[in-house]
Amino acid sequence: MQLDLFAPEAKRRHALPFKSQLLKWIGNKQRFAHEIVSYFPASFGTYYEPFLGSAAVLGTLSPRRAVGSDVFTPLIDIWKRLSESPDQLKQWYEERSEQFSAGEKVAGYERIKASYNASPNAADLLFLCRSCYGGVVRFRKADGYMSTPCGVHKPISPDSFSRRADEWYRRTRGAQFRELDYQEAMKLPRSGDLVYCDPPYTHSQAILYGAQEFDLSCLFDAIARCKKRGVFVALSIDGTKKSGAHVCDLDIPAGLFEREAFVNCGRSMLRRFQMNGQTLESELVADRLLLTY
Ligand SMILES: C[S@@+](CC[C@H](N)C(=O)[O-])C[C@H]1O[C@@H](n2cnc3c(N)ncnc32)[C@H](O)[C@@H]1O
Repeated sequence: MQLDLFAPEAKRRHALPFKSQLLKWIGNKQRFAHEIVSYFPASFGTYYEPFLGSAAVLGTLSPRRAVGSDVFTPLIDIWKRLSESPDQLKQWYEERSEQFSAGEKVAGYERIKASYNASPNAADLLFLCRSCYGGVVRFRKADGYMSTPCGVHKPISPDSFSRRADEWYRRTRGAQFRELDYQEAMKLPRSGDLVYCDPPYTHSQAILYGAQEFDLSCLFDAIARCKKRGVFVALSIDGTKKSGAHVCDLDIPAGLFEREAFVNCGRSMLRRFQMNGQTLESELVADRLLLTY
């Protein structure tokens, strides 16, 4: 059944905002994940999120069956630990929080960072992402060295983290977490399943995540193969530029997407993708959501 995306607000899928991030992650969609979810089909099989990051959309959707995956090993190890042993995740946070608060904080932070850089691991990354400057975990391109200095804010307490971990455990119970390149992950969905993609689509983002060059045209090919199998695909494109032409700059294959929604601009909007426009919408700075359905 084709969902009528131009239906009034009341008929769209409804999700409440869920703003308690478990992880701080650059480019996370926590603030408007509920808007993104509102454009998902009314019904679908398994939910796939192949660029999981901090799982903002998965956590907000809280699907019955899901596969969340990411290519970044220490990150996906955090999610696996949450699903297999939430108490151990809490313990990881508590131990590092104590280490951080015991003496001079910057020195404590630098010790945890040095431990991570000596051997990248989920336990250190968990605390670093919550305590680093601006919540922006940055990696040096040459060798993947985590370089962000200590943040000026106070990281959340172990008690507060523990409550969040319980909530996230509940919300992600239906999910399986896997370390996969998106090319592999996007071979898994079957007809009627849903894939939400939030890739590091710009060069600068690829550097931030420590990923190598990201080739958007390969992602479009993977999306086209999914669409052919009857899989629904939604793709986020960060709206950092003030022009509707920005999306066209990305060389989107004709006919791949049916709709384009605008989120994170104070109100949700939708236009037909083909209506490439000198309309009001093109003046807005918004995140874009391209839909194959
Ligand atoms: C924009 S972030 C996703 C943010 C996420 N939506 C959130 O709310 O936190 C992109 C993610 O893609 C991951 N990534 C980069 N290259 C990848 C690849 N080739 N395959 C799978 N994941 C990749 C990065 O590790 C990063 O976590």
